[in-house]
Amino acid sequence: MTKTKTKGTAHGNWVSIRLVIVPALLAAISAALILFSPYLFIPTGVFLLISAYFLYARYLFSPSGGNIQEKVCSVVMEKLDWDGKGRALDIGCGSGALTIQLAKRYSSSIAVGIDYWGGIWGYSEKVCQQNANQEEVADRVRFQKASASSLPFNDEEFNAVVSNLVFHEVRDTSNKVSLIKEALRVLKKGGKFTFQDLFRIRQFYGKPEDLVKTIKSWGICKVEYVDTRELPFIPTALKLPFMLGTLGLLTGEK
Ligand SMILES: C[S@@+](CC[C@H](N)C(=O)[O-])C[C@H]1O[C@@H](n2cnc3c(N)ncnc32)[C@H](O)[C@@H]1O
Repeated sequence: MTKTKTKGTAHGNWVSIRLVIVPALLAAISAALILFSPYLFIPTGVFLLISAYFLYARYLFSPSGGNIQEKVCSVVMEKLDWDGKGRALDIGCGSGALTIQLAKRYSSSIAVGIDYWGGIWGYSEKVCQQNANQEEVADRVRFQKASASSLPFNDEEFNAVVSNLVFHEVRDTSNKVSLIKEALRVLKKGGKFTFQDLFRIRQFYGKPEDLVKTIKSWGICKVEYVDTRELPFIPTALKLPFMLGTLGLLTGEK
């Protein structure tokens, strides 16, 4: 993981360096073969553009380029209307950024972060623990390996549940709506939730208004959809559909 540092913590970058390096290598190979076929200048240019785009996106997400990653993460905290009493769960905690924010904001709570880890980001339980130590909340956070598709918790264990940009990444189910149901299963009646993801990807979630109706049909008393893709701090360059152009947030009370 290429580490971006904020206050001594390492939260990496949502745009893996591999997305820069792999197309750059393909551009180099394609360029070397132009001698044999001049038409290879087309894929060479395309690979270079892809590499340059992801390099720029990495910069925008990093603290030196606008800190968009931290700002997007903070939106989840801002929308969570919780009194901080009890236990909170962060699904797909990555480097522990949101789990640690929960523990810091709600000083009498316990925050639990789960993640499947091992993907392109290079996040791990060890990175989460180190970040929690740096932020001096290690005594009130717990991290464990688990999948969002099958949470290792009983029904109604948590007073608050959050998740940021995880559900679309989950590979062990194609039914992304079922991940929302699983997240709400472990939330207590009256508990609060905020989930942010690429909720405008139609093939995963359908229309936001239908998604809200579906969630209410499970007996969830309050559900609101917020179009966070329109947030003013998100640069145009990051508004492609597979980046933040399909971003949305669900918040409410069970
Ligand atoms: C874009 S990162 C977001 C990380 C973190 N929520 C944040 O806001 O920084 C996506 C995360 O989803 C996690 N993830 C992917 N599949 C998962 C699964 N089946 N269960 C739990 N987490 C998963 C990845 O390991 C990664 O940490």
